Amino acid sequence: MSRTILRGRVLSFLHEPQGIDDDASYRYWEDGAITIEDGIIAAVGDYVAEADAELIDHRPHLILPGLIDMHLHYVQSQIIGSYAASLLEWLNTYTFVEEQRFSQQGHAEVLAGAFFDELIRNGTTTAVAYCSSHPRSVDAFFGEAEKRNMLMVGGKVMMDRNAPEALLDTAQSGYDDTKSLIARWHGRGKGLYAISPRFAITSTPDQLAASRALVAEYPDCYVQTHLSENDAEISYSMELYPGSPDYTGIYEDYGLLGPKTLLGHCIHLNHRETGVLAETGAVAVFCPTSNLFLGSGLFDRDRLARAGVRMGLATDIGGGTSYSMLATMDEAYKVMQLRGQRLNPLASFYMATLGNAQSLSLAGTIGAVAPGHAADLVVLDVAATPAMKLRSATIGSLAEELFVLQTMGDDRSIVEVYVAGARAKSTLGGLAAPAA
Ligand code: GUN
Ligand code: ZN
Repeated sequence: MSRTILRGRVLSFLHEPQGIDDDASYRYWEDGAITIEDGIIAAVGDYVAEADAELIDHRPHLILPGLIDMHLHYVQSQIIGSYAASLLEWLNTYTFVEEQRFSQQGHAEVLAGAFFDELIRNGTTTAVAYCSSHPRSVDAFFGEAEKRNMLMVGGKVMMDRNAPEALLDTAQSGYDDTKSLIARWHGRGKGLYAISPRFAITSTPDQLAASRALVAEYPDCYVQTHLSENDAEISYSMELYPGSPDYTGIYEDYGLLGPKTLLGHCIHLNHRETGVLAETGAVAVFCPTSNLFLGSGLFDRDRLARAGVRMGLATDIGGGTSYSMLATMDEAYKVMQLRGQRLNPLASFYMATLGNAQSLSLAGTIGAVAPGHAADLVVLDVAATPAMKLRSATIGSLAEELFVLQTMGDDRSIVEVYVAGARAKSTLGGLAAPAA
């Protein structure tokens, strides 16, 4: 049995922090030790010297659970930062053009490799991804995750209208392909499948009905789609589904809402819609860099929290502008500032770790530094750049350190990443061959 001890300052959340002084919401070991056996955390506590284990000393850095990204599109890695006025123009001008490239032999494999490298470089050890509509993009995604022993969630987007012909499936082929992909990947190694009708605009009623059938057949799979991101998207969706009371009502009418449903954006919901999300346990996923970049709107976290809606935090690459969950927390903070709401740094680090694990119903497996959890860990340096070093000289508390990390940090603050107990960042190869 392999046995490794990581020494450093260790932080792990117990529940959602209720304020910046909520010390009871986390465990913190100033001179901590994480004992890892066969990829799993066997123990965590104060450091004591031990003879028969490999010791890796990360002092003075902070060790946290690996970061979790609840929504992104790996097939959009090469269109980050594409200039458009708003969502529908961005989708039509760049996204639907780019995703067609995944029909080519070999393209998905190269992009999946580069994408996973980028996740690791940024400290993300679990992500929930949309692949393209081509089954081979899903094979490349889960194949890469399996090679790296990473817990990943993903699925083929189903889209049977309102996009270029080359991207479209049909209600039947989307159903058939999804079924075979679930058989191939769901529960294989650490892979978990997400049934993924892209959104109401690109799915006919027949396709949403086929999605409902898939959900009924595979209740342990996730469901992911987009909801209420942009005003024009909402109006168009209501034109396409005139019988539904509102946008949420479309997915509700097709039986797609439940505790494993992950809904990207959820910015402009009415009172009835927040009630439905709360009742069904569906998760509203906050994607701040994307919402600002595409000018979609300001997520109302406090209102959703008051309504009892479960929430997640995500980059939404490539509408989102950074792979970094630190940058994502920074932008989340700013969105909330503009809404007159507060997001304290304990709460944002909770969201990116235990909070997202809970929203994925994966608490107990990932998201905490605790016995029995996967040894998926990130090591953070608050003095990673000259500007951060200058700033960090005046840091007086753990909460302040976290706040500086999210405000000034990026991939340079990620000293090391462990996936199932193995070093993953320092062992990355060179850059993957760029795909033109
Ligand atoms: N809505 C439907 N598809 C997409 C997508 O790829 N990105 C974003 N941000 N919104 C969407
Ligand atoms: Zn998205």
